[in-house]
Amino acid sequence: MRSLRLSSVLFGALCLLGSVGCGDEAGTGGGGGTPELPPLPSVEGLVPLEDLSPDPTTVEVELVARETTLPLVDGPETKVLAYNDLVPGPLLHARVGDRVIVHFTNELDEPTTIHWHGLRISDQMDGSPMIQAPVQPGETFTYDFVVPDAGTLWYHTHLHQIEQQERGLYGAIVVHEAELPTFTSERIFVGDDIRLTSQNVISPFKSSGPDIGMGRVGNTLLVNGHAAPMTLTIPRGAIERWRFVMSTNALAYGLRIRGADAKVIATDGGLLPEPFALERVEAAAGNRYDFEVRPQADATEVVLEAMILVADAQGNVSEEPFELAVAKVEGELEAPAEEPVYPAVTLPAVDVTPAESLEWDLSGGVVLGQVEFTINGQAAHVGDADHVMLDTFTKGVPVAITLSSNVSPAHPFHVHGQFFQILARDGKPVSEPGLRDTVHVRGDETVTILSYFENPGQWMVHCHIAEHSENGMMADIMVGESSAHQH
Ligand code: C2O
Ligand code: CU
Repeated sequence: MRSLRLSSVLFGALCLLGSVGCGDEAGTGGGGGTPELPPLPSVEGLVPLEDLSPDPTTVEVELVARETTLPLVDGPETKVLAYNDLVPGPLLHARVGDRVIVHFTNELDEPTTIHWHGLRISDQMDGSPMIQAPVQPGETFTYDFVVPDAGTLWYHTHLHQIEQQERGLYGAIVVHEAELPTFTSERIFVGDDIRLTSQNVISPFKSSGPDIGMGRVGNTLLVNGHAAPMTLTIPRGAIERWRFVMSTNALAYGLRIRGADAKVIATDGGLLPEPFALERVEAAAGNRYDFEVRPQADATEVVLEAMILVADAQGNVSEEPFELAVAKVEGELEAPAEEPVYPAVTLPAVDVTPAESLEWDLSGGVVLGQVEFTINGQAAHVGDADHVMLDTFTKGVPVAITLSSNVSPAHPFHVHGQFFQILARDGKPVSEPGLRDTVHVRGDETVTILSYFENPGQWMVHCHIAEHSENGMMADIMVGESSAHQH
């Protein structure tokens, strides 16, 4: 089976690089303090974008995409594509309700767009290559939107994503709640995997075979742009918020935290009404989680772990833990940490009888020697003369959608501009609470989601494995009236 071979590739290289550490990456955090509003809490782990706007409710930033070289792992630096010369790109942070203006300049030698994954903004600002004319080399584009929801989100290229995203064009977004729960510290971890040669060059891309069939899996785990594990310290008695963004091309893993009492406090779509104890959650390409983390009294370290399927030389598959971040428990707080007070959150009901239910069948096959992935039998590609308009919906009318995958690879399925909740897997009700914009549909599985369609417009739906979406597994849907121009 292909997955086994890929897994052994991953495993072998991780062993080689297993001892590579990367040290602390301390963000300077802070954000623009204003006379009227308290400053945004600092989020450690990434460099924040500088806010150029004097208006306290506007965040105005500059992003430039260009090629650069960065030290991802020990040894030679790696040639990457980066936003503001950083991988991940700088942290965009704002307060819910803020206007965000991003002056984007494309200094790559190829066109690109930026998609704001999870932001329920106007379809005109969404970076969808089905709507936005790609930003050509040397050109600029100003993204201008109001951030409607608090949460942990991310941004990434939405063109030639197989290569552009693997090469580094992704970054994190934090939209802070209006009533801020207080923490000892807030941190962000962006998980990725990258495939490097022994010379630390990004390995050549293939256009067929397992890399396309399963999606490209790396041989090196990255956290915030450095080989895992990231190292940091956490004081005894601390209550921290750890935000996690999964920015892999294809790899999915389980997440757990050792040495701490940890709770899941948020999913893709923001805070949960009721946090729950973290045993393990599944992170597929595009997913986010926030955790509340309290080191256990006798713990010497708190470890964020990825549970990854690996194969040995005989092809026996097992799941192994890999350390993503190791926090040494060190020092005491001067005063006991304040208990975070979470704002009251009500999620839309999951037990409504939806007006409509429908199926999106995720499939694929070989057509004229080329792998092609489809939704309900249709493949779409950026630049196609005709859009595949999969379905139209009425704003505010929830619809139950059953995503079914009849072929073996998993599909982390993403709906732009909307949130949904997960109702069932294989027809059986599940408890995977929280709003999502991306759901992992495993091979040979059906997943039923209830999507609320609150945001009108023309929206992409696609598998978040770029190798699948860009080989056909993408389509558009229409919600209510759209101002989208057709091209
Ligand atoms: Cu994060 Cu259309 O994707
Ligand atoms: Cu897929």
